Amino acid sequence: MYRTHTCNQLRLADAGKTVTLAGWAATIRDKGGLLWIDLRDRYGITQLVFDENYTAPELFAVARSVGREFVLQASGTVIERAAKTTKIPTGEIEIKVSELKILNKAKTPPFTIQDDTDGGDELRMKYRYLDLRRNAVQQNILFRSKLAIETRKYLSEQGFAEIETPFLIKSTPEGARDFVVPSRMNPGQFYALPQSPQTFKQILMVAGFDRYFQIVKCFRDEDLRADRQPEFTQIDCEMAFVHQEDILNTFEGLTKYLFQSVLGLDLPDFPRMTYDEAMRRFGSDKPDLRFGMEFTDLTAAAQGKGFQVFDSAESVLGICAPGCAEYSRKQIDELTEWVKRPQIGARGLVYVKYDADGSIKSSVDKFYSADDLKTWLDECGAQPGDMLLLLCGETEKTRKQLSELRLEMGARLNLRQPGDFKPLWVLDFPLLEWDEDANRFFAMHHPFTSPKQADIPKMDSDDQATLKSMRADAYDLVLNGVEIGGGSIRIHDRDLQSRNFRLLGFTPEQAEAQFGFLLGAFEYGAPPHGGIAFGFDRLAAVMNGANSIRDFIAFPKNNMGRDMMIDAPSAVDQGQLDELGLKMVE
Ligand code: AMO
Repeated sequence: MYRTHTCNQLRLADAGKTVTLAGWAATIRDKGGLLWIDLRDRYGITQLVFDENYTAPELFAVARSVGREFVLQASGTVIERAAKTTKIPTGEIEIKVSELKILNKAKTPPFTIQDDTDGGDELRMKYRYLDLRRNAVQQNILFRSKLAIETRKYLSEQGFAEIETPFLIKSTPEGARDFVVPSRMNPGQFYALPQSPQTFKQILMVAGFDRYFQIVKCFRDEDLRADRQPEFTQIDCEMAFVHQEDILNTFEGLTKYLFQSVLGLDLPDFPRMTYDEAMRRFGSDKPDLRFGMEFTDLTAAAQGKGFQVFDSAESVLGICAPGCAEYSRKQIDELTEWVKRPQIGARGLVYVKYDADGSIKSSVDKFYSADDLKTWLDECGAQPGDMLLLLCGETEKTRKQLSELRLEMGARLNLRQPGDFKPLWVLDFPLLEWDEDANRFFAMHHPFTSPKQADIPKMDSDDQATLKSMRADAYDLVLNGVEIGGGSIRIHDRDLQSRNFRLLGFTPEQAEAQFGFLLGAFEYGAPPHGGIAFGFDRLAAVMNGANSIRDFIAFPKNNMGRDMMIDAPSAVDQGQLDELGLKMVE
């Protein structure tokens, strides 16, 4: 037997027992005649002690030869520690070692295997197996494992069947860029890795499976950010014979179950908001509801007083930053620079300070009387001590900019607390999104999403504004300002699907070539159906109050899409290229 206990099992009540433990040497403290080794495994740490007064000289010599991260097996007696610690659960005991085996030696690791490591990002990714030994990272991966297991439990109890769909599929022009894979047996032809199993899960509904799910890898060749990886995981689901309401209820149920079973938290019923309302109140389709600071439209109140910048703007929008009236000139200048950065792109920032003594100061005092400014403050619900921040310009852009400022102020004022969870359903997304560069409409969610029944007649319109105003039976689940999941009720009628492809600029031939299999399936009795996919990595990160999904993926890629550990992507040899009928471009 390699071990009788794990490194997190023994307590004072075990004193006197003879035990065997196995693990890695986390820290070694050599005080001459006295030597301690902290033995670490997945479960915790137990201290081993060697004392020249009672440890045999040969054994002491072995202990002294141990280096950091050596793999050890130690047998001995559990004893009460002289210097106890509450920092670790085993802090009241130690093992008086009688036998020590070095199971494997280790080179000195390039960074310390501790919660606060000294290793930089790239180094830790290169030596991911060492980074994964660190408790913080290991806990994240174990959390993810639990989340997956609980997801399976809940969904299988709800009658969902777990069905795998292929990874080698067909490239489609919609959505993000595909990763493509050359086919040796079909020279000059390529598979694509799926961006999601969307069409397959719909076909499973046509096949009668009724409730499908899969915890599945998806691949998208897009620019990477903290919450985006080129390969990521979805909890992908589809249901037949359902309305939107059934889907929202089922997956609100899943989310609540996961919070309860993994975090022990009960979430109240999720509020709902239409896309339009979210944009109007928060300037974002994924508002962070952990704090207020809602938008107030001050256009009417601010125009017509001779301030050209506001007068010429489509919208003047404001937020009220609580308790910020004491911001210094320097702080406001810094905030102004912040909104003017290219990433935000505002032209300037107007402030109105409502001092605690009731006096009002602003950067536009020249144009507005104290009464004018007081009207704004009242409209925004400001209290003495608060400060209004105003941006103006084209409505859509201004909303986006003010949304960024709102999030930034929320962060600066510590209103975005990690342990606070505020879920939200955002409903009624637009069906289409106009792309200036491509000069055509794209599906806002995907081309299989059903327009709202009442909006179907608008599909025949040539008017851009009418088409833009069409709503879809599409919804997102938002948690603390992060899009955790998205889905829709699907089109299940061949003709409607063809009309939708036409709106998206596909000729009937192109639609047939790309999606003929789906259109064909729709001719053989497609049931009404709909579904959703959760971003599994994002869910794991947000549940832990973390921003980066990388920490919740065992082997993530860096911002250049590289796996630093295996050094991929990499060149392949000429023979392999020849076999695939590919030529290397110089
Ligand atoms: P969608 O494209 O909205 O929908 O994706 C669903 C969820 O997946 C997560 N996600 C990502 N996570 C990490 N890295 C990425 N690059 C990434 N891209 C997306 C998000 C998102 O909400 N087939 C549809 C779902 C459906 O209609 O049922 C789909 O894929 O959390």
